[in-house]
Amino acid sequence: MSKNIILPQWLDKIIYETFEAVFEPRPHDVVYNPDQPYDFVKLYLGTYFPRSFAEACCIIERLLDNTEYADVLSEIEEINIFDFCCGTGGEIFGMIYTLQSRLPNLKRINIDAVDANPDSVRFLYHLIEEIKKEDEIAIEILINPQCLFIENEQSITDLINIFNRQYHFILSFKALNEFIQSNTFPEENVYRKITEYFLPLLSSNGIFILSDVTTKLNNSSLFYPEFMNKGLNTFVRLNSDYKSIIPHACYYEENNCNGCYMQEVFTVSHSRKKDDITKIAYRIICHADFADMIMQNIKQSICKAVNSSADKFSPYS
Ligand SMILES: C[S@@+](CC[C@H](N)C(=O)[O-])C[C@H]1O[C@@H](n2cnc3c(N)ncnc32)[C@H](O)[C@@H]1O
Repeated sequence: MSKNIILPQWLDKIIYETFEAVFEPRPHDVVYNPDQPYDFVKLYLGTYFPRSFAEACCIIERLLDNTEYADVLSEIEEINIFDFCCGTGGEIFGMIYTLQSRLPNLKRINIDAVDANPDSVRFLYHLIEEIKKEDEIAIEILINPQCLFIENEQSITDLINIFNRQYHFILSFKALNEFIQSNTFPEENVYRKITEYFLPLLSSNGIFILSDVTTKLNNSSLFYPEFMNKGLNTFVRLNSDYKSIIPHACYYEENNCNGCYMQEVFTVSHSRKKDDITKIAYRIICHADFADMIMQNIKQSICKAVNSSADKFSPYS
């Protein structure tokens, strides 16, 4: 699996020339994004969109390294994706790019996406319209972007009623930490809550990808990946119809794991920066019977649940 991605030239040109995106890392400003203004969203597009693009390319490649899963997916002609807190949608473009290049039978991708930031949602819509003109994109793409601020459980229920279909991919990239920062669901584990709400929308062969930053929660000694693992371990223990498939170690150990820190590092190169580094923690969940089918040839890998000296990268290795 590659961990070093080059932004395709045609997409690079659309972002930096057509949409005048700006590369300028602003780690302190990018922590909470629902009300960021237009100029900051341009900076997000030039800086953080390529990172999410690369993360999605690598994650989908990793999934497709599993031949059982690749066989199932290669039969499908139309794929439905739901992206929760899509922002400018770097991960959506990474998925389109990788799925299209790996699945010769694929004819169409339908995307439902939601985010609170109106400028991000607008950029996403226009970017999709722009890539449809490219010769490199041979499949049909249909996007339904919604601007919605999720402020309580009712807004999640409303969202589910708006979309109301079954998805081959449900995603959330680097967003749930913002719900924790803003204390949207106090006293609750937001990773578990969002998973509980959205997994009923997953098709029988669908994949749920939950990805987030790897830094510490404000005013806490806890890191986001630890909190994510805690929430998801609780979820799968209470919902035996679902299992994790990535990290592979979680498939074997999630029922007796005490939770751990994990991190994977990718790089992305584009016209504004070579080897820009991005670090994330992600877990992939699907229906248990589908997990058992596609994991039949994957061996148990080392992790902290079974080896206390395993390092922080080990769940992914
Ligand atoms: C760091 S960005 C990630 C965007 C995109 N997923 C990516 O990886 O590039 C987090 C996104 O979550 C959105 N978000 C945060 N809190 C939200 C809320 N309560 N309701 C809806 N969207 C929210 C922000 O507007 C922002 O676009």
